[in-house]
Amino acid sequence: MSSVISARYMTWAFERSLVDFAPVHEPVMVEEVLEALRPEKGRFFLDATCGTGGHSLAIAERISSEAVLVSNDWDRSVLEIAKERLLRQNKQIVITNFNFASLNNISAASGIRKFDGVLADLGLSSFQLDDPRRGFSFQSEGILDMRMSDFLSLTARELVNTLSEQELARIISTYGEEKKARRIARAIVKRRAKQPISTTRELAEIIEKLGVRRGRIHPATRTFQALRIAVNDELGNLERFLSNLPQFVAPGARVVIISFHSLEDRLVKRAFKAWAKEKKGRVLFKKPLRPSKEEVSRNPRARSAKLRSFIFESER
Ligand SMILES: C[S@@+](CC[C@H](N)C(=O)[O-])C[C@H]1O[C@@H](n2cnc3c(N)ncnc32)[C@H](O)[C@@H]1O
Repeated sequence: MSSVISARYMTWAFERSLVDFAPVHEPVMVEEVLEALRPEKGRFFLDATCGTGGHSLAIAERISSEAVLVSNDWDRSVLEIAKERLLRQNKQIVITNFNFASLNNISAASGIRKFDGVLADLGLSSFQLDDPRRGFSFQSEGILDMRMSDFLSLTARELVNTLSEQELARIISTYGEEKKARRIARAIVKRRAKQPISTTRELAEIIEKLGVRRGRIHPATRTFQALRIAVNDELGNLERFLSNLPQFVAPGARVVIISFHSLEDRLVKRAFKAWAKEKKGRVLFKKPLRPSKEEVSRNPRARSAKLRSFIFESER
């Protein structure tokens, strides 16, 4: 009896398509992205961090039939969902699976040398954050993994169990901007001497016991952010992406970058300033755009988003 029920369910599920049941990430600041990127105008677009495809879908709806959108992500698992959602659009869309730091690979795989618009929506998608098997969240039990891509081999579990106390403190302080980094590193080293730390809850409890809560955020928030940045070399990748980008944009190209913490935003701001100084183009907004109150109340994960945009010089 139960097999009949499951078979019927599966038929129905496939008729609807599996993607209709997949948890997808809610894209942030969509209207602001479209206004800055102007996808209806150019020919070649790159969504460097496509995730489950929210922004890519919005861009795909607006590009012309001659235009091509390259939707890229480092994480193969999100692309499975993005692919199904995007292929429903009757537009030219190429899906690639590279670290955005290697723009040369994205360019070679898509056959596009120069993009008219590039979007990078940095960080993690809800799809990744909410999956306990990925180990990004201290709110659910999972193996301390935190790798954004299966191209990576070193996990957060290896970092917390093998790095020296000084190195752990440096990572937690620099990437987490955590004032209690030395105390946290000391507690980690003390605990792992008894037994290796394997799970997200084990690490969170070590930090909770120290009573280092600051304001309303959970005391483990900054340490988890720091480990995630270290495992994925997020700042190194962003720096390489920004330094390679000018070679891969067409005259008049528009670049939009959304960041979620001050370390990323600082790198974006600095790169845009340097490009403007080199007369490559101009910064579109003096101050980064922030999500509206309505958006934050609808989607609290948007609350720390900062959107910056740069327009490259058109040919004269
Ligand atoms: C905030 S999510 C993007 C969500 C997406 N804009 C949407 O609307 O669904 C960030 C994405 O960036 C990807 N990512 C992070 N670092 C990356 C890198 N170095 N190269 C390519 N993708 C990366 C993550 O895997 C994640 O899917």
